[in-house]
Amino acid sequence: MNFNGSRFDIQGINPLDLCEQYGTPLYVYDAQIIENQYKILRGAFADVSRLRINFAIKALTNVSVLKFMKRLGSCVDTVSIEEVKLCLRVGFEPQQIGYTPSGVSWSEIEEAVRLGVKVHLDSLPLLERFGKAHGANYPVGIRLNPHVMAGGNLKISTAHERSKFGISILQLDDIQRIMKETGVVIEGLHQHTGSEIKESEVFLNVAELIFDAAKNFPDLQYIDLGGGFKVPYKPHEKGTNMPKVGAAIAARFNQFCKDYGRDIELVWEPGKFLVAQCGTLLVRVNVVKHNPSISFAHVDSGLNHLIRPMMYDAYHEIVNVSNPLADKRLYNVVGYICETDNLAEDREMPEITEGDVLGIQNAGAYCFTMASNYNSRVRPAEVLVYNGQAHLVRARETWDDIVRNQIEVEV
Ligand code: LLP
Repeated sequence: MNFNGSRFDIQGINPLDLCEQYGTPLYVYDAQIIENQYKILRGAFADVSRLRINFAIKALTNVSVLKFMKRLGSCVDTVSIEEVKLCLRVGFEPQQIGYTPSGVSWSEIEEAVRLGVKVHLDSLPLLERFGKAHGANYPVGIRLNPHVMAGGNLKISTAHERSKFGISILQLDDIQRIMKETGVVIEGLHQHTGSEIKESEVFLNVAELIFDAAKNFPDLQYIDLGGGFKVPYKPHEKGTNMPKVGAAIAARFNQFCKDYGRDIELVWEPGKFLVAQCGTLLVRVNVVKHNPSISFAHVDSGLNHLIRPMMYDAYHEIVNVSNPLADKRLYNVVGYICETDNLAEDREMPEITEGDVLGIQNAGAYCFTMASNYNSRVRPAEVLVYNGQAHLVRARETWDDIVRNQIEVEV
């Protein structure tokens, strides 16, 4: 969503018109931003001859967004069998789908094998069982944990010593033993350090650790270095310097391929980088309450629709779409949930009056996908804007959705 000097717009569309047509709260995604981000990413690694982008769909699983990703040339990373099935449903080939679950059941792994997707195993017991069941018949990837602490906060750091993810990089000997005993073929090394990593050095250091480990695996087809690129959430914040990371890693990866003896594929699986900035959650102000020391703007949404501020202390910029040029005042923007659900604290923003529409920015990644029916509220509709046209891509839930699976018994 841009400000054009007098009002906000999304590819020429007035967000207030979208609220009129589809109601609030409403998630709106700008496909142009997704496309730009995709191009920036590919451009950064232009020197890599075999590059693959696996969009981490957990960030945004709307099937129309997935279809758009496919059209851009992206592949996908999934973390559950349901996500695998969504991707198959929108037309991704099984081999375009990476499946990187954490601690799932054996039967789910077997189903992924039946569906023919690229499986990444994240524990020694699963690797051993997999090797015994499939031997050399189904080449597989493994997720390593390189023991690196990085990421926006502890909850989204996934490669440190105490993180549940991956096989410790200190257990390479055990992996080798399993390979020998079972004949399992390891065709991919995977790692994901964490989310919102700004420093280029982290990406480089982790890459070095994985390239070093890779020498022990003769059958590699790819190295997957995960996601985690940071995009700015605050007004003057900086994201990961993609050209810098891209150039440095491309050079190092090309050298690795030379030393390894053949060209393999470099895979990245970003979520936020591709979709965080495309999204806006449009909400309407129900009540403005001026207490002696603080003013609250209560909106028709809350942590049920956008949990990131309460779960990670995440910052989301909020704008007054209805009245962008009014004098500024301080507000806490809060939800309608019966629990503390601050969306923003002590924010200076144009004076808010009841009925105004506010736009919560950077609401593309991990926002709708983490939404719930808490307080028995329905989840919002979603709109995808492409080429100046708004398309409804998910209907707002209804009362029926709230009661559908409940079974009323007298006990
Ligand atoms: N690959 C794997 C295996 C992952 O677990 C994740 C994210 C990604 C890729 C993509 O990471 P990204 O590029 O989006 O940082 N709900 C949290 C973020 C959790 C990320 C979980 N894994 C949030 O809203 O900040």
